[in-house]
Amino acid sequence: MIDTSRDSLIPISLATLSVDTALGIDIYLRSSVRDRPVLFCGGDDIPDRKRFARLCEDGDVRLFIDRNERPKYQAYLCENIDTLLENESSMSPLEQLSVLSEVMRDVLDEQFSKRDTGQIVTISQKLGECTSRVLSNQPPLTKQLCSVLHHDYATFTHSTNVSLYCSVLAKALGFSEQDISEVAAGGLLHDVGKLQIDPRILTKPDRLDEFEYREIQKHPTIGFCELREREDVTLAQLMMVYQHHERCDGSGYPVGITAEEIHPYSKVCSIVDVYEALTSHRPYRHPMTVSTALSVLERGGEREFDPEMLRCWRQLVTE
Ligand SMILES: [Fe+2]
Repeated sequence: MIDTSRDSLIPISLATLSVDTALGIDIYLRSSVRDRPVLFCGGDDIPDRKRFARLCEDGDVRLFIDRNERPKYQAYLCENIDTLLENESSMSPLEQLSVLSEVMRDVLDEQFSKRDTGQIVTISQKLGECTSRVLSNQPPLTKQLCSVLHHDYATFTHSTNVSLYCSVLAKALGFSEQDISEVAAGGLLHDVGKLQIDPRILTKPDRLDEFEYREIQKHPTIGFCELREREDVTLAQLMMVYQHHERCDGSGYPVGITAEEIHPYSKVCSIVDVYEALTSHRPYRHPMTVSTALSVLERGGEREFDPEMLRCWRQLVTE
């Protein structure tokens, strides 16, 4: 008999289940926090369409799988992401991006904890293609997109949001479908160097001291060194990893280069990276409103960020 105690089960998102495919893993359901989880669907069963639809309407219901089945669940997500998106032709681009963001978070959470760079790159490139395909129909309003994303402090959540924001901004700037795919994957990878920074520094609730701040500032270089030999990472993506904290006026790090030396993809990434951080929960503050975050971004006038890109981002998040 399965142990359904709190610690042995991990939550999964409803959006990541396909009603046409058996997951190969038992899925449990809990209607409220106090209820004991019950079996919803056996591993070999295909989720019942009507029951599934009812669940989707009920916001309080949560699904779980056994913690030990997580690798199998990850493999299912990677294998089925295309089907998950394509099967639901009735889904709007916003709903598709919501599904995609759930999958991105789930997969990155797992892969980031394993620190398997090869796997992280392979999956990021695939998810980048999916994002580009979804956006090629009709990009959703960015404001709505922000409202369906998670806004916690985890690096995998931040990377997911940065990836989707990068893609929407790139689309609005007229990037090609191929470029958007590249930027989306680059967004997922941009903070890969943080995986080697002490988590106690990354999640410290107080102001960082000088040593800690210098440690964090190493992450673009660490990420660059980790990816530079890889043939499956493009030069532009490598630049997103290395240059996303550079600023057009030379005030950024790790090198302090200026506008003309910063890759356009890195400029896109730098704007949405700051915006995402400001509008998400942090251990030491509440998320900022859209207008406050924009005024912080624009505080540096046209010196820190590419002015045209910044104007475009303002338009996207306020229209
Ligand atoms: Fe970063």
